[in-house]
Amino acid sequence: MVRPLSFLVALPLAAAWPGVMEANQRLQKRVEPGPREPLFRSGRPNTSQPPLGGFNAAEQFVDVRPGSGHEFRSPGTGDLRGQCPGLNAAANHGYIPRNGKVSTTQTITGLGEAYNMSPDLSLFLAIVSIALAGDPLTQTWSIGGAFPPSIPLLFGNPSGIAGTHNQYESDASIVRGDAYLNGGSVGVFQMRSWENFYNMGEEYTLDMAAAQSDYVTRWSILNNPYYFSAPFAGLVAPAAHDFVINFMSNHSAENPGGVLTREVLKSFFAVTGEPGSFVHNRGQERIPDNWYKRPALNAYNIPEVLNDVFINNAMFPGIVRFGGNTGTVDSFAGVDVTDLTGGAFNLADLAEGNNGACFLLQASMQGLPDATDPLLGAAGSILGWATQQLGPLNEKLGCPQLASFNQAFFDQFPGASYKAQGQ
Ligand code: HEM
Ligand SMILES: *[C@@H]1O[C@H](CO)[C@@H](O)[C@H](O)[C@H]1NC(C)=O
Ligand SMILES: *[C@@H]1O[C@H](CO)[C@@H](O)[C@H](O)[C@H]1NC(C)=O
Repeated sequence: MVRPLSFLVALPLAAAWPGVMEANQRLQKRVEPGPREPLFRSGRPNTSQPPLGGFNAAEQFVDVRPGSGHEFRSPGTGDLRGQCPGLNAAANHGYIPRNGKVSTTQTITGLGEAYNMSPDLSLFLAIVSIALAGDPLTQTWSIGGAFPPSIPLLFGNPSGIAGTHNQYESDASIVRGDAYLNGGSVGVFQMRSWENFYNMGEEYTLDMAAAQSDYVTRWSILNNPYYFSAPFAGLVAPAAHDFVINFMSNHSAENPGGVLTREVLKSFFAVTGEPGSFVHNRGQERIPDNWYKRPALNAYNIPEVLNDVFINNAMFPGIVRFGGNTGTVDSFAGVDVTDLTGGAFNLADLAEGNNGACFLLQASMQGLPDATDPLLGAAGSILGWATQQLGPLNEKLGCPQLASFNQAFFDQFPGASYKAQGQ
C-alpha cells in the first residue's frame, strides 16, 4: 500500500525515529525523470578555466600524512559536522577547526590551503553563513548544527548552516535528499542520487555535474510537492555540483586540469563499498592521500562559480529556476527575476559578465532579519551588518547597490515556508 506522503510527515513517530521514516520512504512510489540530452557539450577543463602556469607539485600537494598536523581524524563528541562534504573533509583534517566552529579568517586560510578556493569566494560564503546562521559579534559560524553565541543575541542561538533550509541549503542537491521528503532532515544521503552520478563514468567532468544537476532538479519537481528553489539557495545547490569537479579533482603534471576518479570521489563523500553495496559513513569525509589541489593561479572565484552554473543551465535549461511546486508534485510555477528584483536583473542577462555574481550577492541577503540589535553597533541589524560586509565585494565586482528582494513573491509556495529541523 502506498500511503500519501502528507500522512507520514504528520506522524510524530516519523520525526522521532528517522529510521522508521526512511523505511517508509522506501515504500513510496517515486517517479524517475526520463533521460535528457544536453543542448551541447561544453568540454570545459576540470578547473573550469584553462589551467594556468602548469603543475606545481610543491604548491599543490595537500599533505595529510601522519605528523603533518592535517592527518584524518573522525569527528569527536561535540564536533559539528553538516551537509557539506568539502567543509566536513576540511574539518576532519584540521584545515578548519576540528570542532566545526569557524571564523571568517579561518575559513579563508583553511579553504585556501585545502582547496585553493579564492579568498573572495570563501569570504563571501563565510559572511553569508554568519548572517544566516552564525554569530556576527565574533564572526563565527558552524559547518553543522547550532552553537551558543559568545554573548546572547536578540535573534536567538545561531542554527549553523544545517539549519538554513531554503536560505542556504536547498532541494535538488547533488547527493543529499530534499528536506520535505526526509521528515525535515536536510543531510540524508540519497543513494539514488549518488548512484546516478557515480554511474555516469569512471572519471568525472563538469558536463557530468551539469547532467546530474538537471537530473536531481527534474526528480525533485516530479516527487516533492514542496520542492522550492529560492534565489540564493537555488543557485548554491547547482553551484555545489560544480564544486565536486572544481575542488575534488586531483592534479598532476600529466593532467594539470585535474582528474576526478571514483576512488577520490568516494573518499570526499565518505562512501565505501561498490555499486549495490555502497555504504555512506556519516561525517567521515576524507581528503585522499597523495592528492593535489587545483593551482593557486586558478583559485576558484565568484564569477567563475556563476559562469559554470550558467553554462550548465545553457546545456540543460531549467537547472537555474526560482519558484517551486505549489503543493502537489509536478506543479512548478516560476518567479520572474525582473519582478523579484524591482527591475535590477532579468534571467536572460544573468549569464552575462558579472551579472550572475551580482545577483548572487543580492540574493544572499534575502530574508536576513532587519530587526535591530544594539550589540551590532553602527551596523544596526544583521541585514545592515551583511550589507556592510559585502559592500567591498559588491564594489569590486562592479555591481549595482545591494537591495532586498520582494519577499511577497514567495507566499504562493508552501515549500518556501516549510521549516526543516536540521540534519
Ligand atoms: C565557506 C565555504 C562553504 C560553505 C559555507 C558551504 C556551504 C554549503 C551548503 C550550505 C551546502 C548545502 C547546499 C545544498 O543544499 O545543496 C553545501 C553543499 C555542498 N558543498 Fe559546500 N560549502 C563551502 C565550501 C565547499 C567546498 C570547499 C566544497 C568542495 C570541496 C564544497 C562542496 C559541496 C558539495 C559537493 C555540496 C553538495 C552536498 C550533497 O548534496 O551531498 N563546499 N555547502
Ligand atoms: C577532466 O577530467 C576527465 C575525467 O576526470 C579527464 O579525462 C580529462 O582529461 C580532464 N580534462 C582536462 C582538460 O584535463
Ligand atoms: C594524483 O595524481 C598523481 C599523478 O597521477 C598520482 O600519483 C596520485 O596517486 C593521485 N592521487 C590520488 C589520490 O588519486
